[in-house]
Amino acid sequence: MDDDIYEKYRHAGEIAAEARDYGTELIKPGVRFLDVANNVESRIKKRGAGLSFPVNISINEIAAHFSPRHDDTLVFKKGEVVKLDVGSHIDGYIADTAVTVEVGSNKYGEMIKASSEALENAINHVKAGVDLSEVGKIVEDTIKSYGHRPIDNLTGHSLQQYVLHSGLSVPSVANTSYRVKPKLGDVLAIEPFATNGAGHVMAGAGSNIYLCNQSFRSRIIRDNRSKIMFNKISSRFNTLPFAQRWCQNLVSDRFDPTLKRLSFLGLIKHYPQLIDAKGGIVTQKEHTVIVKEEGCEVIT
Ligand code: CO
Repeated sequence: MDDDIYEKYRHAGEIAAEARDYGTELIKPGVRFLDVANNVESRIKKRGAGLSFPVNISINEIAAHFSPRHDDTLVFKKGEVVKLDVGSHIDGYIADTAVTVEVGSNKYGEMIKASSEALENAINHVKAGVDLSEVGKIVEDTIKSYGHRPIDNLTGHSLQQYVLHSGLSVPSVANTSYRVKPKLGDVLAIEPFATNGAGHVMAGAGSNIYLCNQSFRSRIIRDNRSKIMFNKISSRFNTLPFAQRWCQNLVSDRFDPTLKRLSFLGLIKHYPQLIDAKGGIVTQKEHTVIVKEEGCEVIT
């Protein structure tokens, strides 16, 4: 990795980490999801970074993939287990980081510790050439030592410029059929999830998070409103996920029905919420690391 790219990752990481900690402080009973998402995203932009995906605010059995709509009225309630997942980028070099906060109570402190210690143990093991299934085993063993289950169908992922999931997975279980090894300079987002539920997630309702389908061209779109919006979305967000909220200013009116139509036509993908199959509580912690010869460097 050349020095210039390295500095961009470090800078993105510093901004994402600060925004995550700022967001954590904002989460209190009665506070709106929408205000936390908007404030955290503004903070990232004010510091000169781009948003690599919408702020995810996932509650209780929702492991990941929920971001409030523009008209969302949800507020945090005492006892909720909140996963706050934040991403920034500098020139497409992405930092991705998440934390779990329990709102005004401490019933799930041990489960929060389980995913956080699993992450720490994984980070201590990652270096160039490490077998990622071994990292998965470490995550699984750590979470099980707390009496909980890792989520087996959610993994960490490698990052590349403007690509959030670029090929390598970092499993949270000992998957012996996955013998992949990261190289020096690879960038990984490592994110163990722990649960008292099934230990795998199913797709739920819409997340309000979308991705542009790059293989389509707008000339196949017949109605003008959809065509204009698709062109704006694809040039603005390109390969990175975006929020329903962010489309509000792209067309003068009816942005929400137009977005739904683009999704119906398959021009944009609407991600589902990812929910523990038995409705268990889920915790998560995530850092982005740069793989080194001996060990790895946490940038978030
Ligand atoms: Co993340």
